[in-house]
Amino acid sequence: MKEHLVIFDTTLRDGEQSPGASMTKEEKVRIAKQLEKLRVDVIEAGFPAASQGDFESVQSVASAVKDSTVCGLARAVENDIARAGEAIQSANSGRIHTFIATSPIHMEKKLRMTPDQVVERAVWAISRARDFTDDVEFSPEDAGRSELDFLCRVIEAAIDAGATTINIPDTVGYNLPHQFGSLFHALIERIPNSDKAIFSAHCHNDLGLAVANSLAAVRNGARQIECTLNGLGERAGNTALEEVVMAIKTRQDVFGVDTQINTQEILATSRLVANITGFAVQPNKAIVGANAFAHESGIHQDGVLKHRETYEIMRAEDVGWSTNKMVMGKHSGRNAFKTRLEELGVEFETEQELNDAFMRFKELADRKHEIYDEDLQSLVTDNNIQRVENEIYRLVSLKSSVETGERSSADVTLWIEGKEFSATSTGGGVVDATFKAIEAMVHSGATLELYSVSNVTNGTDSLGETTVRLEKGGRIVNGMGADSDIVLASAKAYVNALNKISDEFVKDHPQASV
Ligand code: KIV
Ligand code: ZN
Repeated sequence: MKEHLVIFDTTLRDGEQSPGASMTKEEKVRIAKQLEKLRVDVIEAGFPAASQGDFESVQSVASAVKDSTVCGLARAVENDIARAGEAIQSANSGRIHTFIATSPIHMEKKLRMTPDQVVERAVWAISRARDFTDDVEFSPEDAGRSELDFLCRVIEAAIDAGATTINIPDTVGYNLPHQFGSLFHALIERIPNSDKAIFSAHCHNDLGLAVANSLAAVRNGARQIECTLNGLGERAGNTALEEVVMAIKTRQDVFGVDTQINTQEILATSRLVANITGFAVQPNKAIVGANAFAHESGIHQDGVLKHRETYEIMRAEDVGWSTNKMVMGKHSGRNAFKTRLEELGVEFETEQELNDAFMRFKELADRKHEIYDEDLQSLVTDNNIQRVENEIYRLVSLKSSVETGERSSADVTLWIEGKEFSATSTGGGVVDATFKAIEAMVHSGATLELYSVSNVTNGTDSLGETTVRLEKGGRIVNGMGADSDIVLASAKAYVNALNKISDEFVKDHPQASV
């Protein structure tokens, strides 16, 4: 019997700390339900003390999710712990994750606390969290740069105070695999009550070593990994769930542990996260990148055709890649559409949602003959993305023209808080002209930080997915759009970003000093 490795997903918390990856309550609930389908053990849904919006998001995830444990993050202070405790109250299984920094540099420069004060505060925070739930996780922040003797002292006290999971964060991504592995070995061996808690690894990817460090921790006794889909997270991101899970599954000969992840849901979850956050997946990304299972060179293709294991260590189907077969077309009916989407794991909450999506499918089928699973998924996700709460702007129509030797132009009509406005503009290309026409009506004052387009499937009639990143007054948001016409997809992404940037809420960063 293999030991269980707990998969703790923090896409909705640490992932959301990536600039521009902020998610609405509805988006978080949608991702959380998919994470439950993926069968992650724990979903860290957010930092409830950050804002009323974050509190409500964690609360909604706690009510919506039944099988996974729902966790809220809290600094080691009364207000954070009380908010987290309240937010997870409706969960079938709820956890509070409290943390305080333990490295000399963090204690001295950020917290301005002595080591004794840090131990005392950690013990107090854990006991307080236990008033709300028996499932309490403690993290000595910046453990990767903390002194071993002090770490042993604080962790022993934390376990005595009632922490059931001890998470070891390499907060700044400084560790190397052999060091991080040895750290786990030393902690588990030296701390007298280490058998009373599960040890967990939380790695950042600043040196590209987050997955390697997490795996080294598992080899040395860690039984929980904290990770995010697509490796989303602060700076260079966190440990990528899909990579660490597939490494454990593929190299059973090395790791004596198993996860309960339904790996066939990996790709759908990765796509949902990419679409909602606007952080596109690079084509050569392991497991979920478009090229991850593509064989280009003749020698590789020949080998794979003769015997797939010559060049393949995993099966694409095992992580959710379909055979890209044509599933639907112009004559497919509403029932067939609904059934195929159900097979792909997409369920509609209301008849209206199904009808909207079906209408958009029919529009797409008029322009594109062969509709693949990927098209269907993108279409439904785009449908959800464009339907934002507190919508201010909506794209009504767009007409653009391009002519050799002339400046491109675009006529755009927008719905703005109940009224329609139109504007025409020229630009260096149709997308440029479209964005300028939108700005002529909106005057957002935002700066365009990034614009990218990718194809969902092959072919010039494929759906194009676009990301637009806007910055205003230090606030960064990502907008997404999908359409078989990339100019329309771009306009939708721009409008989606504008709706997000006009949302005025401000939230605290959990790792700023209290
Ligand atoms: O990276 C980190 O240290 C964190 C803590 C809040 C656990 O995310
Ligand atoms: Zn982190």
